[in-house]
Amino acid sequence: MNVMLTEIHEQPDWVERAVQMEHEKAAELASEVRDRGIRFVVIAARGTSDNAATYAKYLLEIVAGMPAALAAPSVFTLYDARLDLSNTLVLGISQSGQGADIVQYLSSARAAGALTACITNSTDSAITRVSDHVLLCHAGEERAVAATKTYTTALAVVALLTAELANRRDLAEGLRRTPDLMRQALELGPTIEHAVERYRYIQECAVLARGINQATALETALKIMETCYVVAKPYSGADFLHGPIAMVSAGFPCFIYAPDGKAYASQLELALKVRDRKGEIIAIARAPEFLELGTTRIPVAVEVEELLSPLVYAIPGQLLACHLARARGEDPDSPRGLTKVTITR
Ligand code: F6R
Repeated sequence: MNVMLTEIHEQPDWVERAVQMEHEKAAELASEVRDRGIRFVVIAARGTSDNAATYAKYLLEIVAGMPAALAAPSVFTLYDARLDLSNTLVLGISQSGQGADIVQYLSSARAAGALTACITNSTDSAITRVSDHVLLCHAGEERAVAATKTYTTALAVVALLTAELANRRDLAEGLRRTPDLMRQALELGPTIEHAVERYRYIQECAVLARGINQATALETALKIMETCYVVAKPYSGADFLHGPIAMVSAGFPCFIYAPDGKAYASQLELALKVRDRKGEIIAIARAPEFLELGTTRIPVAVEVEELLSPLVYAIPGQLLACHLARARGEDPDSPRGLTKVTITR
C-alpha cells in the first residue's frame, strides 16, 4: 500500500481521537466566544485547509447561526488593510501551522481586536503562537504530500466546535458515530480501484456538489489535480448551471456528489441536465435512483446525516484521486514539483 492510501485508511482512528481529545478545548473556546458576545467568524486557510474552511463556513452558519466568511489573506499581507475585527473570531486552519500568510493574518487580526484560534496538526508551530486558542487535529505525522487525514480531522474539530457553539449535543453525538461510517466508506476501495481504469486518459473533468458538500467537490478536485495532473474544475451544482455546463458535451466526465439531504434534489436535477448533454456521469451517492444515472456508480452505502456527510464523502474522493493516479502510472505520494509545506506570503 502506498503512503497516501495508508493514511486514507487511518482516518477513522484519528477522527475518533480528535473528537475525544479536543472536546474540552472546543468547549473553552465556545465559552469565550459567548462571554465576549462574538457574532462573526472569519476563517483563514490555504489549499486543503481552505476546503475545511468552506465546510466550517456552512456548518457555522447553518448550525450556530454565526455569519462566517473566508479570509483573503492578501488584504493584510499585500495591501496592509485596516480591518475592524472586534466582535469577530478569526480561525486559522493549517495542518503544518507554517503558512506564513495565514500566520500573519492571525497576528494582524489579533492586533485588530479579534479573538484568534487555530486548528492545526502541529503543536508549537508558528500558528499556535498567534492564536488565543489552539485546537489540534491529532492526525499523527502526515507523510504523503497530498493531505487526507489532516483534512478529515480538521472537519471533525470544526464540527466539535460548532456543536459547542450551538449547544447541539445531537451533532456531537453524531460525530462520535462518524468514524464507523467512515470505515464503511473505506470498503469502496476495490470498487473505485476498478472504476478508475475507464478514466486513465482523461485530461479534464468537473467535480460537482452542493451545499455543505461544496467542500467535498473542492477537495476532490484538488486531490485529482495534484496527484493525477488532470484539470479538475470544482463547482457548486448551482453555479455550474450558470454557465460552465456549456462545456459538457458527449463523454465529458462529471463527478457528481449527491448525498442524502437537503441538497439531494438539486443534484438530481443537475445530473439529469448533464445526462441530456450526454456527459459522462460518475455518480457518488447512496440513493439508487441517483446511482442509476451514472455510467460509473460509486455506491456510498452509508446512512449519515447531511451535516456530517463531508467526513464520509471525502473518502471516495480521496480514493478516486489515489487510484486514478496509480492507474495513470503516477506516484500519488509525491506529486511532481510539490513539497509538504508550501509557504506563500
Ligand atoms: C493539498 C495540500 C496543500 C495544503 C496547503 C496548506 O493536499 O496538502 O494544499 O493543504 O499547502 O497547507 P497548511 O494546511 O499546512 O497551511
